[in-house]
Amino acid sequence: MKKKIVFALFAATVLVSCNKEKEVNPSVSDTKYENLNPEEQLVADGQELFESNKAACYSCHKVDQKVIGPSVKEIAEIYKEQNGDLVAFLRKKAKPIVDPTQYNVMETNFAILKTMSDEEIKSLEAYILSTVK
Ligand code: HEC
Repeated sequence: MKKKIVFALFAATVLVSCNKEKEVNPSVSDTKYENLNPEEQLVADGQELFESNKAACYSCHKVDQKVIGPSVKEIAEIYKEQNGDLVAFLRKKAKPIVDPTQYNVMETNFAILKTMSDEEIKSLEAYILSTVK
């Protein structure tokens, strides 16, 4: 009986401290899904980042509908067709190939893209390309 109580207390403490850790350390790509291989995890991280308030890509790019920017699928199709380098574009090292006439609108995002790690940029590429087979 006593043992059970001690164990319950211990479990409760562990739970509480885990939750606390999440609160103090909020990170956009901290979601880890079970049973994902590294490539799938990269895509999941990229999608999370793409849709996060931090990156705000989603406010202009919907998955399969053009809003302010081209749809994510259109971007993926054109990059696949033309063998484009998304990482280079997101690092401002390659010219736009999807809709160059609207490039000045996209250009405002390079400030936030600049703050992202290589891993984050790669995850965005993986997510965008994953939307078309
Ligand atoms: C203010 C609206 C807006 C936001 C926010 C935005 N984009 Fe864009 N994006 C555009 C527009 C407009 C274009 C079309 C111009 C172009 O092709 O460069 C575009 C084009 C692109 C392209 C295609 C580039 C090419 O080769 O032509 C990629 C890739 C892209 N955006 C990724 C992103 C990512 C990743 C984010 C989030 C960090 C983001 N965008 C946020 C408006 C936006």
